[in-house]
Amino acid sequence: MSEQPPISVLFVCLGNICRSPLAEGVFRAVVDERGEGARYVIDSAGTGGWHAGSAPDPRSIKVARQHGVDIAGQVCRQIADADFSRFDLIFAMDRSNLDDLRARSTPRDRSRIYLFLDYAHGAPGEVPDPYYGGPNGFQDVYGMIRAASEAVAERLARAPAAGAASGHASSMT
Ligand code: 4NP
Repeated sequence: MSEQPPISVLFVCLGNICRSPLAEGVFRAVVDERGEGARYVIDSAGTGGWHAGSAPDPRSIKVARQHGVDIAGQVCRQIADADFSRFDLIFAMDRSNLDDLRARSTPRDRSRIYLFLDYAHGAPGEVPDPYYGGPNGFQDVYGMIRAASEAVAERLARAPAAGAASGHASSMT
């Protein structure tokens, strides 16, 4: 495993306060469970910057904790131009996030931006914004993110080059 290049993965939603911090924490937990954590550089960001510097939404922290994942120490941030070339894979939670990311990226970097559920399951799907909904929304989102994280980890374990082909991860420190 150690001879393989790291794979860098960035999860992106609108605020980086609900979905993408949860995805960052859950995906990290999944690859750690698989004994593959050392292979990955994992981060999250928002297309918007309203919550930059804040902790994740308490409802995301709570649902993560209910499943044994601690995301309380994460700090929300807005995506930066440099992220588009730094990460091997950039996963958008919904189509609006995907459109925003594509609009900001260069054609070269655009090929590494995917809808998270699409990349995971091979079929279009969105992780809906739970911000204005009830707590069940966060449970539902957790379940979607957990299943997609398992599928992505499996896909990358089978075809490591799919993520690391660009070699971008090797430029990360
Ligand atoms: P997220 O959810 O994109 O999953 O972090 C949201 C968080 C905040 C807002 C919208 C969505 N907001 O409008 O402040």
